[in-house]
Amino acid sequence: MDILVIGGGGREHALVWKLKQSPKVKNMYVAPGNAGTASIAKNIPLVKTNEIIDWLKKHKVDLVVVGSDSYLAEGIVDKIQRLKIPVFGPTKAAAKIEWSKSFAKKFMDEEKIPTAKFKSFTDFSKAKKYIEHEKFPLVIKADGLALGKGVLIVKNLKEGIQGLEDMMKSKVFGEAGARVVIEEFLTGGEISIHVFSDSKTFSIFPTSKDHKRAYDGNRGPNTGGMGTITPVLEIKPEIIEEIKNKIIGPTLNGLKKRGSPFIGVLYPGIMLTKTGPKVIEFNARFGDPETQSYMRILKTDIIDILIACVKGNLKNLKIKWAPESACCIVLASGGYPGVYKSGKIIKGIERAEKLKDVVIFHAGTKQSSNDIVTNGGRVLGVTAIDSSLPLALKKAYTAVNEIKFEGKQFRKDIGINH
Ligand code: AMP
Ligand code: GLY
Repeated sequence: MDILVIGGGGREHALVWKLKQSPKVKNMYVAPGNAGTASIAKNIPLVKTNEIIDWLKKHKVDLVVVGSDSYLAEGIVDKIQRLKIPVFGPTKAAAKIEWSKSFAKKFMDEEKIPTAKFKSFTDFSKAKKYIEHEKFPLVIKADGLALGKGVLIVKNLKEGIQGLEDMMKSKVFGEAGARVVIEEFLTGGEISIHVFSDSKTFSIFPTSKDHKRAYDGNRGPNTGGMGTITPVLEIKPEIIEEIKNKIIGPTLNGLKKRGSPFIGVLYPGIMLTKTGPKVIEFNARFGDPETQSYMRILKTDIIDILIACVKGNLKNLKIKWAPESACCIVLASGGYPGVYKSGKIIKGIERAEKLKDVVIFHAGTKQSSNDIVTNGGRVLGVTAIDSSLPLALKKAYTAVNEIKFEGKQFRKDIGINH
């Protein structure tokens, strides 16, 4: 089979790496990809949805896998379906659960899916008036997609008003902030749940945990994710059952009922509160960096899973995961998630990759003459597996020390502070 993966981050490199292990895969294409995917697949230098659609009209592929959320929000899946090409990912209508937080909140309300109490606003003065009577801390979210950064946790009224001004008036997150969702601040441990869905049945992955804050000790601004571990052994099976019954099942049924069956990966971020698991947000795609850890322990041929989802026969497939622990440590550019510089030469990737059980996935990298240079906020994902999490982390951090570039920024407490 010939496959096209759309995206250019660590998640896409990990997916391509896994796809390449399938004896069923012949040619692998990635649009636009990065320096890592270039070494195992053919990068197609296309970013815009329309360019990718034009390419697909001229090149025959057997499956398209959509990695990143922005394409889903643009309806790329609907466009590929019109070309009669099998595509793994939800339609624009099904993905709305990710690209509009106000839609997701209303949906959860209607389906009685546990989540934080909320109100949504398009009018600054009404939003301001609302928070004047609320208890702090409060959470203010831009309605649309904002690269994982459109969420503010405000401690008092002054910070709240400033946050609303930034989002609704100064538009620091662009049009994503024209509408805001204001919600109750939840406390508890946060986990990432992923399921494969063919819209009729679903198959849950092992639990994982992202580390969203930029700095050690869960300090600093929110990022796209600085590192992950899987599985999270302390999560009891009863909790997983509750998540399946009260969150995943009702979500997939609710979308089907509304005429938007969900095919792809559904990934809710979940807070384990004292009163049970509650949804923080929905994502309609593989998590990044979660996928970098997941691909290290997935045993079933991923092609079989993706095809089963697209064809609607997931219930006949038993998906197997290795009993090991996996972790991913993200190496970011100094300054991320704020302003950072690109074009810094990266040294030591080959040395790090020689270490046992270590695989390096590229995110913001590109080839520049004979060097691989930084080309984004999150640069590399250093992954390792072992029989236990501490052993996997030890291997990954040994590899992290081998890799050098100016401004290298990473968390030293992945798997410890979460
Ligand atoms: P989101 O983009 O919605 O996942 O939010 C980013 C991060 O903000 C989450 O991973 C949480 O750490 C935090 N967060 C979002 N919503 C809430 C909430 N209602 N209560 C507490 N923390 C939250
Ligand atoms: N792990 C964060 C995300 O994919 O949104």
